[in-house]
Amino acid sequence: MKAAVLYETKQPLVLEDVDLDEPKAGEVLVKVGAAGICRSDRHFMHGDARINLPAILGHEGAGTVERVGPGVTLTKPGDQVILSFVPACGRCKSCLAGYSNLCDLHMATGPFMLDGTCRLHKNGQDIHHMGKVACFAEYAVVPETGCIPVSADVPMDIAAMIGCCVPTGVGAAVYSAQVQPGSTVAVVGCGGVGLNVIMGAKLLNAAKIIAVDIRESQLEFAMKFGATHSVNASDRDPVAQVKELTGGLGADYTFEVFGSAETIKAAYDMSAKRGTVTVVGIAPMDTEASFNAVDLVRNEKTIRGTYYGSARSRNDMPAMVELYLSGKLNLDDLVVRHYGLDQINQAYDDMDQGEVGRGAIVFD
Ligand SMILES: NC(=O)c1ccc[n+]([C@@H]2O[C@H](COP(=O)([O-])OP(=O)(O)OC[C@H]3O[C@@H](n4cnc5c(N)ncnc54)[C@H](O)[C@@H]3O)[C@@H](O)[C@H]2O)c1
Ligand SMILES: [Zn+2]
Ligand SMILES: [Zn+2]
Repeated sequence: MKAAVLYETKQPLVLEDVDLDEPKAGEVLVKVGAAGICRSDRHFMHGDARINLPAILGHEGAGTVERVGPGVTLTKPGDQVILSFVPACGRCKSCLAGYSNLCDLHMATGPFMLDGTCRLHKNGQDIHHMGKVACFAEYAVVPETGCIPVSADVPMDIAAMIGCCVPTGVGAAVYSAQVQPGSTVAVVGCGGVGLNVIMGAKLLNAAKIIAVDIRESQLEFAMKFGATHSVNASDRDPVAQVKELTGGLGADYTFEVFGSAETIKAAYDMSAKRGTVTVVGIAPMDTEASFNAVDLVRNEKTIRGTYYGSARSRNDMPAMVELYLSGKLNLDDLVVRHYGLDQINQAYDDMDQGEVGRGAIVFD
């Protein structure tokens, strides 16, 4: 099958034929239908995050089940499925505590399948599976727990979005921060994930939703998804601007959705007394972020991270699908660019150039 392979950081992905094994026990072969262009893959390409190489990236995907391995009961051939990049084991401490987004077995096995081996190879060499999804390829072998069946009414590209940016962004507002009605929210970074944070805040009836970005185009686009105000961080200090828009108080809930020490500090500094700062963006590895320790205490602030929007894929992705089908999440306007797999490097360049909304690779 054709796949886009990362051999070396800071180099383009290589489009080539690779070998894919049959699914083993508890695994599923999926024909990929669509794969989203998320910045998390870009971090691996740039070397800002580490993955065993070579690797096939792509963790925001959806497709159709082609064949299943022995013992699979959660899905069957013909099902349309959303792929989860945390296929939870259901047995570890995190899973049992209700945090399947942090599954210990998944984290311990990283870019290998749950049994610690790879299904992807080229000339006898193993190729690693980003998030046990690896959907920048025509087919993927994934654990059955990473397949979430979805109605065929949901277009493939939108189903793919529900594999990462939707649960991550909406979940950050709904499950992690638990935004209260009537509150003020500031979202720093309004790309694919940030727009979903905005939609999550709108869903929970936040009164004021301030979009913060360095690009005017992103800010205008964010208004479609529920932002009520915008702040251009390249004009003037975004902290001062958010304070002005909130009567000097700062925002009750702030979200960092880019991934840098600078934007984490900005999200912290623009938060109000008793404010909650939720960090979604993944900063380059070894980044240390800082905030004023006295301010933290005297203003009773909370700072927390959120992985996968603290969403439990098997439980919460179907809820996101229902929110979309009932018109409460505007996912139709989110995917604005479609590419073939052979245009994948272009798709990532477009993201770097600041094209608005989400891009998606679509397969025939
Ligand atoms: N926590 C998780 O589970 C999780 C899941 C998915 C993605 N992520 C991370 O979330 C981040 C966002 O991902 P994305 O796919 O939406 O990326 P994106 O590139 O689509 O969006 C990033 C946005 O940040 C803006 N930006 C850049 N510098 C800024 C600054 N100084 N101030 C304000 N805005 C700025 C960009 O203009 C862009 O609109 C990435 O770091 C990604 O790895 C985390
Ligand atoms: Zn992602
Ligand atoms: Zn687990």
